[in-house]
Amino acid sequence: MFTRAIVRLPSGNLKEGLSSSDLGIPEYEVALSQHAEYISSLKKLGIDVTILQANDLYPDSVFIEDVAICDREFAVITRPGAPTRRGETEGMKEVLDDFFSHTEVITSPGTLEGGDVMKVNDHYYIGISARTNHNGADQLIRILNKYGLTGEKVILEKLLHLKTGISYLENGYMLVSGELAECPQFSKYRKIIVDTHESYAANSIWINGVILVPEGFPDTRRKIEKSGFETLTINTSEFRKLDGGLSCLSLRF
Ligand code: GLY
Repeated sequence: MFTRAIVRLPSGNLKEGLSSSDLGIPEYEVALSQHAEYISSLKKLGIDVTILQANDLYPDSVFIEDVAICDREFAVITRPGAPTRRGETEGMKEVLDDFFSHTEVITSPGTLEGGDVMKVNDHYYIGISARTNHNGADQLIRILNKYGLTGEKVILEKLLHLKTGISYLENGYMLVSGELAECPQFSKYRKIIVDTHESYAANSIWINGVILVPEGFPDTRRKIEKSGFETLTINTSEFRKLDGGLSCLSLRF
């Protein structure tokens, strides 16, 4: 169960965020209202949401998942691989100290973004991507081992982040798309395959028994429901324009 989440309000400079999507420029007012809907959905599912002020220095800072990993006992402040996002970790120690008695830090030359980190029970999968390097992943694995957890790397070819292409839905179910559909590291899981035309929906999140799915991907939603999960959809169109998905918008623990 998750009881808490931390989110950050969208930066006033959101439209300057990194993007490879070719879907246009996000509309700030619409993004604000979608973000508010996201927060209220988390609250409806029993989550106590801490809302951080917008940080206008960093257009991508709404994607707070990338700057920390939150486990039960400890948190890790990452070191984003995107140079324009590196400063987003400023102030996170103070925020996390309110919730965790141990806070670890990824240091140079390591890079790691939370979008590349997926937890399944006591094991973590860590994507090696343009944003997360081997050194950063190795540092995280050493931290995990210190707390009795394990981790392994997953080499990504094209995906921005690991969780751009895969989400763990609990009960052994993995929602997978693209290059990860045939990845042998996930062969032991029950797979729900996301078709290419709905690949954005591979980033869905389990919140206390309900799967949050982005709005507009009915085939994926149907497949998730057929596997026995309740779903709830949220419109994230403005964040999609910046390659951001549902998981990117919060730290959940
Ligand atoms: N726009 C989100 C990212 O590229 O990290």
